[in-house]
Amino acid sequence: MLAKDEREMLDGKQGKACQKSMEILTALGEIFGAERLVPVNSVQIAGVSYHNLGDAGLEFLEDLAKDGKVRVKTMLNPAGMDLENWKDTGIPEEFAAKQVKVIEAFRNLGVTISCTCTPYLIGYNPKRGEHISWSESSAVCFSNSVIGARTNKEGGPSALAAAITGRTPFYGLHLDANRAPKVTVDVQANVRGEHEFGALALAIGKKTKEKIPFIRGVKKASLEELKSFSASFPTYSGAAMFHMEGITPNLVPVPEEKIAVTQKDVEDAIKFLNDECEVDFVSVGCPHCSMNEMERIASLLRGRKVSKETWITTSRQMKSEADKRGLIKIIEASGAKIVCDTCLAVAPLKGRFKAIATNSAKGCYYGRGSNGFKTRFMSLEDCIKEATKL
Ligand code: F3S
Repeated sequence: MLAKDEREMLDGKQGKACQKSMEILTALGEIFGAERLVPVNSVQIAGVSYHNLGDAGLEFLEDLAKDGKVRVKTMLNPAGMDLENWKDTGIPEEFAAKQVKVIEAFRNLGVTISCTCTPYLIGYNPKRGEHISWSESSAVCFSNSVIGARTNKEGGPSALAAAITGRTPFYGLHLDANRAPKVTVDVQANVRGEHEFGALALAIGKKTKEKIPFIRGVKKASLEELKSFSASFPTYSGAAMFHMEGITPNLVPVPEEKIAVTQKDVEDAIKFLNDECEVDFVSVGCPHCSMNEMERIASLLRGRKVSKETWITTSRQMKSEADKRGLIKIIEASGAKIVCDTCLAVAPLKGRFKAIATNSAKGCYYGRGSNGFKTRFMSLEDCIKEATKL
C-alpha cells in the first residue's frame, strides 16, 4: 500500500530517477511481502568500487544522476582506491579514471563521499530504533546489534533507491518479530582483542547459521572488539544481527534452544584462518580503523621500519583527526601506508600479493575469496611485528 507521495514517485511525477527507484523498492517489497514502505533517516551504499560495478554499473549511476538527488543523509562504503593517493598504492591509471567517474556520479546525486565501512566512528550514528537503509554487512550488523537501529542488509541498488526516495520496504529486520533471537549461545571461552572477537564470531556464526543468536558469557567488549565481531559474524553466518547480553540495547526473551561455543571452537576458528605461508602484505583496518587503533599502531611503529607492503586502512576523516594528533607522521615514517577510502577487499589487488597478514576474520575471507591470497590471522600487535620483521 503506497502513500500519495510514493504513488506519485512510482507514476513518474517526481522524475525518472524517483520512478526507477520506486520500481526497485516496490518490486522488493512484493518479493518479501512488505505491507508498506517506511521512511529512513540515513542510507549507506556499498558497491562503490569500479572493480565490482564495471561499466554497466557506472552507466546506471550516471543515468540516475541526470535527474536524481538523494533525499536523506547518504554515505558511501569504501571505493576501489584511495581517492587522493591512488598512485602510491599501485592502482592502474585506467582503473583510477573509471573510479573517479563513479565517485562523480555519486557526488552529482548528492551523496556524501565518505567511503568508509565505519560511518558510526565518524559521526554518522543512527539512533536506537531508527529505520535506516545500510548496505555494508559489518556496519549493518553493528548498527542493528550494538546501536539498536533497524536495517536489512541492502544491496547497492536498493540502498540507492532508498536514498533517492527516502523510503525502504517495511520487512525483515525493520519488524520486531524478525529481530527476535532464535538460539541461545553460551560462550565458554575467554576472548580478548579484535582478532579473537572475530574468531569467536566465526565460531558462533558457523553453528547458528541463519538464526539470530542471543549470546551470553561475553564479560566485556570494547568498541573495536565489537566492530570486529560485527564484521566477522555476518561473513560466516546467514544473519545480519546478533543480540549480546549487556551490549544489545533491546530486551528480548532468551531462546530455549541452546548451544555452547567453547575455547576449542575459538582455537579451531583461529587455525582455520591461518595458512602455511610467507607473508608479503600486511593489512590492518578491516573494518576501517578507529582512533584507538591508530594510536596503538603509531606507538608500535614509532622509530621502526616496515619490511613489506603494509596498509593501515581507515576513513579520510579519521586520518585527518589522527594527523592533528601527530600519528600519521609516525606511521608514515615507518614506510607503512595509511590508505583511505578503500580496503583489501574492494581494491584491485589480485595477483599483486601472495599472502596477507591481518587481524580481521572478515579480511581473511575476502583476502582468500576475492584475491586468492593465503592468510595469516593474528592480533594487531603481531601484524605490526610481522610488518617490521626482517
Ligand atoms: Fe570494511 Fe572492506 Fe573490511 S569494507 S569491513 S575494510 S572488507
